[in-house]
Amino acid sequence: MSQVHQSKCRLGILLSGRGSNFTAIQTAIEQGRLPNAEIAIVISNHADAVGLTIAQEKGIPTTVFEKSRFESRVAFDQAVTDALKAHRADIIVLAGYDRIISAPLLEAYPGRIINIHPSLLPAYGGKGMLGIKVHQAVVANRELESGCSVHLVTNIVDGGTVLGQSRVPVLENDTPETLAARILEQEHQLYPQVIREFIDTHIAHTVLN
Ligand code: GRF
Repeated sequence: MSQVHQSKCRLGILLSGRGSNFTAIQTAIEQGRLPNAEIAIVISNHADAVGLTIAQEKGIPTTVFEKSRFESRVAFDQAVTDALKAHRADIIVLAGYDRIISAPLLEAYPGRIINIHPSLLPAYGGKGMLGIKVHQAVVANRELESGCSVHLVTNIVDGGTVLGQSRVPVLENDTPETLAARILEQEHQLYPQVIREFIDTHIAHTVLN
């Protein structure tokens, strides 16, 4: 164990799909825009997640936990927690992770799990508000503005403190897909910035692995 001025904050990344936010974080680290972090491990609940392949190509440790092999959500999250601890993750970064986080993980990393959501929370958040459904609802309601939010993960889905947001106009001819793409570009800028600030503000003074 050592202080943060000697070691970087180790990120445990959880993802389920293409992993473009994970890639944006990894690129920010490589380019020196996220100097206080390093990726400890990438964990996925889908063996075929593209994000896993990208991590493997970068030489980052990866692990897969498939839901079907566990008898409960708690058992699943205990296994995930054990892997994160074994790889000495300091904070957990959800990057397109499609599972709800339960007690073992929340209790092992209190106030240290963050997520990115493609809306201006608290609007268009909560259980079931995932992926394209968010943008479909925004377009259907003729909102003038949407965006993305980085927030703390708690036992209330999408309900934790918002750490940062980017706003994006909804254009008259936007489809859910065009809006999603424009917001995703903002996500890739916002997430590394907020992670950097979060580490400096909340983690840097604590003892890291
Ligand atoms: C992003 O839109 C993010 O806001 C949401 O899931 C999507 C993940 O995309 N939580 P990617 O896998 O990072 O490309």
